[in-house]
Amino acid sequence: MLKDTGPVFSRRSVVAAGAMTAAAAMTSSQARAQNREPEPHAAHEEGPKVSQMKVRLTVNGSPYELNLDTRTSLLDARREHLHLTGTKKGCDHGQCGACTVIVDGVRINSCLTLAVMHEGDRITTIEGLGTPARMHPMQAAFVKHDGYQCGYCTPGQICSAVAVLDEIKAGVPSHVTADLTAIPELSVDEVRERMSGNICRCGAYSNIVEAIAEVAGRPT
Ligand code: FES
Ligand code: FES
Repeated sequence: MLKDTGPVFSRRSVVAAGAMTAAAAMTSSQARAQNREPEPHAAHEEGPKVSQMKVRLTVNGSPYELNLDTRTSLLDARREHLHLTGTKKGCDHGQCGACTVIVDGVRINSCLTLAVMHEGDRITTIEGLGTPARMHPMQAAFVKHDGYQCGYCTPGQICSAVAVLDEIKAGVPSHVTADLTAIPELSVDEVRERMSGNICRCGAYSNIVEAIAEVAGRPT
C-alpha cells in the first residue's frame, strides 16, 4: 500500500509560485501608490515621540532644573546638559567605572541610571570634590602616588575611592570581608575588592591602592 507522503513540489511549481507572489505584491504596492494610501510602515518613518520631563538635581552644591528627554542617563545629563565633563564615559554599559559619581553619599555608575530617577538628589562629581588649587585629600594623594597615567579613569577612581572609605567606616561589608558582624578592616584586599569595578587601562592599580591607603591613614 502506498503511504501518503504529502504534497510533492517540483522546481518549476516553486518558481511559478514565487513569481505569482512577487507579482501580487507589486500589484498591491502600485494600487496603494495610485490611491495615495500610506505604506504600512510609514508610521515608523516619523520616528518615535520624544517624551520630556523636568528634573531638579543638586550637583556639587548648586541646584539645577533640566528639561530632559526621559531616556537621558545621569552621565549624559551632566556632560551634555550641564557641561560638567570631568566625569568620563568609558563603556556606557556599567563595566568600567569611569562614570562613577557619588549620589546622596553612595557611589554609582552614572551611565546606568536615568537622570529623571534622581529628582532632588545630591550629586557629587570630581569637580565638586576639589579644584586644582584646593584639592581633596584623595586627589592630592593620587597626584603624590602617581595613581594615573592617561587620567581617563581617574575622576571615577577618585569618586569611588572617597565613597569606599565612607563605606568601610559605615561597616558595609564586601565580598572579602571575613566577619560580617564587625567593622571591615581597611586592608589591601578590601580596597582592591571594593575598587574592582573601576578599570584602569593604564594599570596604575598599585599606586591607586597606595593613594587610598594614605588617605585612610594606613600603610599598604
Ligand atoms: Fe559607566 Fe563605563 S561608562 S561604567
Ligand atoms: Fe589611564 Fe587609568 S590612568 S585608564
